[in-house]
Amino acid sequence: MRKFSSGNKTAVYGALTVSESAEVHVLEVDETRCSELREASNGRIKAWACDVTDPVAVDAAIQAIFDSGFEPDVLINNAGIIHSEPLVNMLSRGERSHSRESWRHVMSANLDSVFFVTSRVVDRMLAKRTKGIVISISSISANGNPGQSAYSAAKAGVNALTRTWAKELGGMGLRFAAIAPGFIDTPSTRAALSEAAITRLQQQIPLRRLGDLESIYLAARHIIENDYLTGTVLEVDGGLVI
Ligand SMILES: NC(=O)c1ccc[n+]([C@@H]2O[C@H](COP(=O)([O-])OP(=O)(O)OC[C@H]3O[C@@H](n4cnc5c(N)ncnc54)[C@H](O)[C@@H]3O)[C@@H](O)[C@H]2O)c1
Repeated sequence: MRKFSSGNKTAVYGALTVSESAEVHVLEVDETRCSELREASNGRIKAWACDVTDPVAVDAAIQAIFDSGFEPDVLINNAGIIHSEPLVNMLSRGERSHSRESWRHVMSANLDSVFFVTSRVVDRMLAKRTKGIVISISSISANGNPGQSAYSAAKAGVNALTRTWAKELGGMGLRFAAIAPGFIDTPSTRAALSEAAITRLQQQIPLRRLGDLESIYLAARHIIENDYLTGTVLEVDGGLVI
């Protein structure tokens, strides 16, 4: 199984356990993370420094990957940033409205990136008659999470694209699905939430714990292996409902 991924880690490491012969390419904006990925995988992950919000950079990186002889059959859109900000901050003495810059930045990182990368990779899959699979990492915030206007809207957009492309391209043998995690125990979650907040949160999660990376890997594997599955948004959230 060959993989192609934007963003790093979760499903990419998991993908290596699906098949030791997997060829994995990652588009990652952070050069340090690119190096870490190469080192952690003994060079088996090909990490390309690329900002997936920049369509010119995306086109160049993807063309370079194709030119290296790689033909993707799975794309995982994982890159994203989590952002919380109220629509109106009533406690602020200055600007009270949600920043327009952060709105654009969050939409760009979480939604534009999925469109830019998927359109190029699917074009290639169609040209090569590859019956490819696109898995996009969404979030349960797509249901509308108070305090996360941009993030919720972007992830809802990811779900809409997933269903749209499943209908548009199913006849060509391509499948599309999204994984909507709840709260996963990653460094970014730990950085965003205090210990006290995590403890409170765990009380609200029916399974009383954060999810682990393995749960996301298993969801991706299920989507890849079950070839009658498309247009689905798979919630992996320990039962937490937003
Ligand atoms: N951690 C959670 O609890 C959680 C919950 C729901 C959804 N998600 C989603 O899962 C995905 C991964 O989240 P994570 O928690 O592992 O975050 P993370 O920050 O650890 O990983 C995201 C990766 O994407 C990269 N990235 C960000 N912007 C990029 C860009 N413009 N170009 C290229 N690479 C870029 C980052 O450098 C980072 O390596 C995101 O889409 C996030 O929205 C995470």
